[in-house]
Amino acid sequence: MAVFIAGHRGLVGSALVRAYAALGTPVLTRTRQQLDLRDAAAVSRFIGEAKPRIVIIAAAKVGGILANDTLRYDFIAENLFIELALIEACRIHRVPRVLFLGSSCIYPKLAPQPMREDCLLGGPLEQTNEPYAIAKIAGVKLIESCNRQHGTDWLSAMPTNLYGPGDNFDLNGSHVLPAMMRKFHEAKLAGDAPVTLWGSGTPKREFLHVDDLASACLHLLANVHAGQVPGDLINVGCGTDVTIRELAELVQRTVGHRGPVVWDAGKPDGTPRKLMDVSRLTGLGWQPKIDLADGIAGAYRWYLDNVEQARR
Ligand SMILES: NC(=O)c1ccc[n+]([C@@H]2O[C@H](COP(=O)([O-])OP(=O)(O)OC[C@H]3O[C@@H](n4cnc5c(N)ncnc54)[C@H](OP(=O)(O)O)[C@@H]3O)[C@@H](O)[C@H]2O)c1
Repeated sequence: MAVFIAGHRGLVGSALVRAYAALGTPVLTRTRQQLDLRDAAAVSRFIGEAKPRIVIIAAAKVGGILANDTLRYDFIAENLFIELALIEACRIHRVPRVLFLGSSCIYPKLAPQPMREDCLLGGPLEQTNEPYAIAKIAGVKLIESCNRQHGTDWLSAMPTNLYGPGDNFDLNGSHVLPAMMRKFHEAKLAGDAPVTLWGSGTPKREFLHVDDLASACLHLLANVHAGQVPGDLINVGCGTDVTIRELAELVQRTVGHRGPVVWDAGKPDGTPRKLMDVSRLTGLGWQPKIDLADGIAGAYRWYLDNVEQARR
């Protein structure tokens, strides 16, 4: 019985594939063309036949502020379909361990910082990605409720902002770090042309390398069980943040762009600060290993090596 990684071609899923490959653990994968994870009947058939011992839900419709704010129905509906199809199939076919991946955007916009797991549902969400966040909160509650009602041993992990090999560099759908990397890279090639970045640069964000996230997921699956922490929910982050302006300076230096940076203050900033409280995770015995400057340098090397294949 193997591990099924749903969403194995994504940023998170591909890091999980690398982490299991390093251990020599067999992994089951299905592309979207082989198995549309919104199709509950097909998903149930697959899980029933494959009988995985672990299912990691790293498949989701994800994107940046613009995509979340404009494709609001798609972000809530597709994520609910995927979560419900997978979780219900795992319940019916008694999959021993499920790890559901959500996101730090499940916490209220004005949650006390750093955000603890118990601030969930304590206030209004950030408007731009509210539909996505509500789908992810539903996933957390599906996991917790199934544990309570059916005695399953499943967990939810809420990663902070992630980056690394396999990221999405499409400027309409990507997150802040890969979008910046691509903008600086293309501006450098255009003779150090000016780079325009969204917002004021003052919001603070936390970034975790995706290989650190994969290591945390394997640690949780090996060492942590349902009922051990309230809500069966664990934040995954590094516990430190930087301003978007500091991030831009780091990416600009790494890429080697020497042109001007223009901050478009007419564009939304999003939540003023988002830092995870990771004391629950560190108390469970896990620490990140990859520092931000090294991680960004590695991610840029990956981008240069894969510029044609990278999702753009
Ligand atoms: N990236 C981050 O910064 C970040 C931060 C916090 C949490 N997370 C969480 O981590 C999880 C994965 O995110 P990610 O960044 O790895 O996303 P990603 O790179 O976009 O990967 C998502 C994967 O899901 C697959 N997928 C989506 N819809 C599908 C469907 N209907 N049927 C089959 N496969 C489908 C995609 O397949 P295709 O390859 O065919 O498109 C892709 O492989 C999400 O739950 C997200 O909330 C991510």
